[in-house]
Amino acid sequence: MLGHKYPSFVIPLLIITLTSISSSIIVAEARNLLDVALPDLPKPEIPDLPEIPKPELPALPELPKPELPSLPEIPKPELPQPDVSDLPVSKFPTLPSDFPIPSEIPNADIQADKLFDLLKSKRSRNSPALTTLTVSEESTEEYSPVYIAPQDGLAQLDKIVALPGQPSGVDFNQYSGYVTVNPTTGRALFYYFVESPTESSTKPLVLWLNGGPGCSSMIGAMSELGPFRINSDGKTLFKNDFAWSNVANMLFLESPAGVGFSYSNTTSDYGHSGDKNTADDAYIFLINWLERFPQYKTRDFYITGESYAGHYVPQLAYTILLNNKKTNQTTVNMKGIAIGNAWIDDETSNKGLYDYWWTHAILSDATHDAIFKYCNFSSESSSAMCDNFTDKAWNEIGDIDVYNIYAPICLTDLNASATTGSINVFDPCWQDILVSYLNNSAVQKAFNAKPTSWDLCSDVIPSWNDSAVTILPIIEYLIENGQRLWVYSGDTDARVPITASRYSINTLNLPIETAWRPWYLNKEVGGYLEAYKGLLLITVRGAGHTVPSYQPQRALELFSSFLGGKLPSSS
Ligand SMILES: *[C@@H]1O[C@H](CO)[C@@H](O)[C@H](O)[C@H]1NC(C)=O
Ligand SMILES: *[C@@H]1O[C@H](CO)[C@@H](O)[C@H](O)[C@H]1NC(C)=O
Ligand SMILES: *[C@@H]1O[C@H](CO)[C@@H](O)[C@H](O)[C@H]1NC(C)=O
Ligand SMILES: *[C@@H]1O[C@H](CO)[C@@H](O)[C@H](O)[C@H]1NC(C)=O
Ligand SMILES: *[C@@H]1O[C@H](CO)[C@@H](O)[C@H](O)[C@H]1NC(C)=O
Ligand SMILES: *[C@@H]1O[C@H](CO)[C@@H](O)[C@H](O)[C@H]1NC(C)=O
Ligand SMILES: *[C@@H]1O[C@H](CO)[C@@H](O)[C@H](O)[C@H]1NC(C)=O
Repeated sequence: MLGHKYPSFVIPLLIITLTSISSSIIVAEARNLLDVALPDLPKPEIPDLPEIPKPELPALPELPKPELPSLPEIPKPELPQPDVSDLPVSKFPTLPSDFPIPSEIPNADIQADKLFDLLKSKRSRNSPALTTLTVSEESTEEYSPVYIAPQDGLAQLDKIVALPGQPSGVDFNQYSGYVTVNPTTGRALFYYFVESPTESSTKPLVLWLNGGPGCSSMIGAMSELGPFRINSDGKTLFKNDFAWSNVANMLFLESPAGVGFSYSNTTSDYGHSGDKNTADDAYIFLINWLERFPQYKTRDFYITGESYAGHYVPQLAYTILLNNKKTNQTTVNMKGIAIGNAWIDDETSNKGLYDYWWTHAILSDATHDAIFKYCNFSSESSSAMCDNFTDKAWNEIGDIDVYNIYAPICLTDLNASATTGSINVFDPCWQDILVSYLNNSAVQKAFNAKPTSWDLCSDVIPSWNDSAVTILPIIEYLIENGQRLWVYSGDTDARVPITASRYSINTLNLPIETAWRPWYLNKEVGGYLEAYKGLLLITVRGAGHTVPSYQPQRALELFSSFLGGKLPSSS
């Protein structure tokens, strides 16, 4: 939590060692702090850090080269060249292939994450555009059709033959690759698509987005709800019996450009990252992806996601609905959204955060009271006293996994923890494991990705340009337009906790249709739900921020209930 007080260039240095030393989820998501100038704050007293012994890293064993099946010859389709002759030539330098990686870390005491940094920067004086959204169908913007490139034959090229280390008996199709969203600057988004093993042609298409802002949806694909999880060796995969692809065709999108394998050939594109451009690019991606996979054009379509995707998902849904009305391009058959532990309203979510901490015995009375005395969360700027006590709060909770307060933290190094994974035990070192797998060149090749220093969250997005203070007007718009809307919450997450979701939804004053009740799976309470007119609030008992990671079976029950439009069982 001290992170934001250091000059921004220090932070990435801090974080890199951190990962190797330790520890909790927060750490890896902290890798790049948003580069926002902070007001001159009094320098806090920084306690001396204990000497941290450098762990001896054992040399990696020589790995036997896996025998890769030879690839079938895929005929290259003749692609019509898009006419780019009259496009303005980019005046920006191209992206260097290697980004400089800092090598020394002076200090390891950081607990911050991308959301933390964004919120902090929003409340500081140099805040990113605090867009208060005006939702209106009578958009003054002239409609201009989005960029669509010919996609014929590309789906076949994107087909994954096999992922390194995947278990035998894979009985579904997997695809991955890039969709260009801006040919002028050379911006392309990476996707991973998993078809359902059974009757995929009758199942809906569901897009999944992780949050951040600036974190990869491959987190969801490989550590939460995808068809595989990674063993603790960081090299082999095991089957996820509760994959969401059991009931839907799942599309994972790394968004925006600069996240994961998604990139732009024009570095300055990254400086334009923000809520609006993220939604606009994701929309262009989707329209082009549907050209590449035309059999999905008329399929029922849902968007799901977690955390800061509480912004991305409703904003994309809204963009789709507006464009559906305006264009005679593809009409996306948008049916609904489900968002988990989602940050949807700054004021109520901040209050919900500290109330959760206090009621879950990780925060003192005094600091809780001081926060509510000195912080005005409806104000666009913070005060020194407020910052003082919110910083104190982050110190008071100690070195726990703020994304699942009852979970163990990662204390072993990757090699030492190498055991076969189990879907019922979520490895606390999942971040190291995921980076180890996806940053491997053979894996990147199998995914049709270009060589990338793959990381959980973006290192190249310098700042987040615009972030709405509330998404609630869009939520209301979606309800009015007949979209199915589920807000779910893992109830042991202290980052975007259930209280944040409840306070946010309460401000909508929706009539209650089904009063608060437990829902059951295998005779156990899976969580609780309350159905409002147009919106369902549902919890998952014993799940952290990344709900399917901790409660895969309950998460799948929730997801299939969502797709079926029915409440999970009351007994
Ligand atoms: C980015 O540049 C590389 C190298 O010139 C090129 O192969 C690639 O197609 C470009 N990407 C896009 C999306 O235009
Ligand atoms: C930042 O967002 C605002 C509001 O959407 C927009 O007007 C502005 O052009 C954006 N700036 C950049 C650098 O993208
Ligand atoms: C609708 O599509 C047709 C054929 O693609 C095109 O000729 C026409 O200009 C489009 N109309 C609008 C309003 O975009
Ligand atoms: C909190 O901030 C809002 C917006 O600036 C302001 O209207 C309100 O009066 C403030 N509340 C208190 C208690 O200062
Ligand atoms: C923050 O709190 C500490 C003690 O908890 C106090 O010494 C310091 O003056 C406070 N800073 C501000 C800006 O109020
Ligand atoms: C790391 O893996 C190698 C090879 O499997 C093994 O020899 C070594 O003992 C392991 N180190 C630890 C700390 O587990
Ligand atoms: C990915 O691997 C490359 C090459 O081995 C390494 O330089 C880079 O630091 C790794 N990136 C991450 C995020 O670990």
